[in-house]
Amino acid sequence: MSKPRLFSSHVLFEEPRRLLEQHFDVDYWTGSGRPDRAEVLKRVAGKDAMISLLTEKIDDELLDAAGPNLRIVANVAVGYDNMDVPACTARKVAVSNTPGVLDETTADFTWTLLMAVARRLIEADQLVRSGRWNEWNLDFLLGTDIWGKTLGIIGLGRIGRAVARRASGFRMRVIYASNSRAPREIEGELNAEFKTREEVLQHADFVSLHVPLNDKTRGLMGPAELAKMKRTAFLINTTRGPVVQEQSLIEALERGVIAGAALDVFEREPQVPDGLRRDNVVLAPHLGSATVETRTKMAMIAAENAVAYFSGRRPPTILNSEVWPPA
Ligand code: DGY
Repeated sequence: MSKPRLFSSHVLFEEPRRLLEQHFDVDYWTGSGRPDRAEVLKRVAGKDAMISLLTEKIDDELLDAAGPNLRIVANVAVGYDNMDVPACTARKVAVSNTPGVLDETTADFTWTLLMAVARRLIEADQLVRSGRWNEWNLDFLLGTDIWGKTLGIIGLGRIGRAVARRASGFRMRVIYASNSRAPREIEGELNAEFKTREEVLQHADFVSLHVPLNDKTRGLMGPAELAKMKRTAFLINTTRGPVVQEQSLIEALERGVIAGAALDVFEREPQVPDGLRRDNVVLAPHLGSATVETRTKMAMIAAENAVAYFSGRRPPTILNSEVWPPA
């Protein structure tokens, strides 16, 4: 019997490839960079399954192009704002993401950014690297202390908690705002105090965003919210760009409303507005989960979801369980 056909918009890694190839006739995108939309629509046509990255929009247009055979789209990301889940559910197409394996890695990177912006690491590196370093002085490239300060977390999900947990080594006070209060034992473990969002913005020295992107969080950090932050505070964003109103952030930085920002995500990736290319802003190209170990685990989860579906097992991290089991 012929195997189901799967389109993977990335060539993935050896381990998930081995798994996929036991179960599917796989068509990988092997070109450089990301495939353009026309290529994705062409390659998904007639497939039974797809493995997507966050760069692919999974919407009605793609579902039309795929045709009625498509049963599952497994996204290699925990965030799934690139997927129109209701549209997939309406066509009984299962969708899955990769929760649980990237929390610690993304938390590490959040701290990488936080420390880099507080201690002006990028400016320092550029100075030394360019051969322009020619002095040492008492007030040379002074940064801001991290230890003993207040870390404000907006969104205390798995990644927010992993970020908070790391703060104890810096003897920081941790305050957080979230849709719902975390259980007392979690608050105790993290030494985190539940506050309103306004209080977090007003009191934190570092505000780190960890909410998913959805209709409620799009544009969450606008001019009014930035104005509530301390003038000495830094904004760290490793979630999704559109959670911050980028133009308002640029204006806030220009006017000295906040001290700086460290950003891994942007409104229109990979475009980064010139207004963000400032000394007091650290910029990274969406690298939160980008380690060999974690990206391999993420690709494995996506592969396991696709394999499970076609082996008659519930995809372990299915997002629309309404479509399981298939009628
Ligand atoms: C995710 O998983 O949502 C990250 O943004 C990319 O790894």
